[in-house]
Amino acid sequence: MLTSFEQTIIEPARYQLETLIIGQELLGLEQTASTNSLIRERAFAGVAEGLVIVANEQTAGRGRRGRNWSAPAGSSLLLSLLLRPTWLVPSESFLLTMLAAVAISEAIERETNCTVELKWPNDLLINGRKLAGILVELETAGPERLRWAVIGSGINVNWQPSDDPTINQAATSLASECGHEVDRASLLRAILYSYDRHYLNLRSGRREALRQAWLDRLTTLGKMVEVELSSHSFVGVAEAVDQHGGLQVRDSTGQLQTVYAGDVKVRPVAQA
Ligand code: BTN
Repeated sequence: MLTSFEQTIIEPARYQLETLIIGQELLGLEQTASTNSLIRERAFAGVAEGLVIVANEQTAGRGRRGRNWSAPAGSSLLLSLLLRPTWLVPSESFLLTMLAAVAISEAIERETNCTVELKWPNDLLINGRKLAGILVELETAGPERLRWAVIGSGINVNWQPSDDPTINQAATSLASECGHEVDRASLLRAILYSYDRHYLNLRSGRREALRQAWLDRLTTLGKMVEVELSSHSFVGVAEAVDQHGGLQVRDSTGQLQTVYAGDVKVRPVAQA
């Protein structure tokens, strides 16, 4: 017997879904600890790529840099998928964050009247507020090869989250920004299609097209930012993103520093 989440969200999203890889196996759970953790278990067990797990509620959702990701039951799209991009080397893995960001942004824009922008490294923004976050977890087979990747995303759909004081980031949702509730089943379906198309393009070698689509949405460059690393923070101007996804920031001494794992806060422009 199907749960209400399966009946109202998963079944409509799955109906005549014509993707080649993403969502070929699609699992919906009323509640789980973390969809990323579940997919990791399946990945270690050897499950084929394309598996997608969506939860109506997570009891131990995980964000980047050891943070929690929490949302009320029924309010969000909490989904993770398994990829086996063994044709990527680990140093190219930022392409997977780009894949998720572009695929989800395009799906949201297809389903709503909202425009989605990106903040380095993994935030989706609407009107400067965080709408969604992406968590990519990888398993490598030595320095030369990726074994698998889990891409998780939490998208605030029909609730108003409070701002996250741990990262000083204003938060929002689709309902708040678009002015109406958004159908989670249609959005999920659009996301699966979008992921499938972009993943197939990436697999056929179109790295630059994906990188450009991601850069076109990125609002971080040219801005004064505060970079928070685990050991210290510094202020500078974000100038570019390198081939590996590192953010290049010109600090106050004029040196170009490249950041691979950190948070950035965009500083308001000083008034003259
Ligand atoms: C971030 O912005 O810190 C990333 C948040 C990622 C949250 C999603 S929700 C679905 C998936 N399962 C998890 O435990 N985390 C990701």
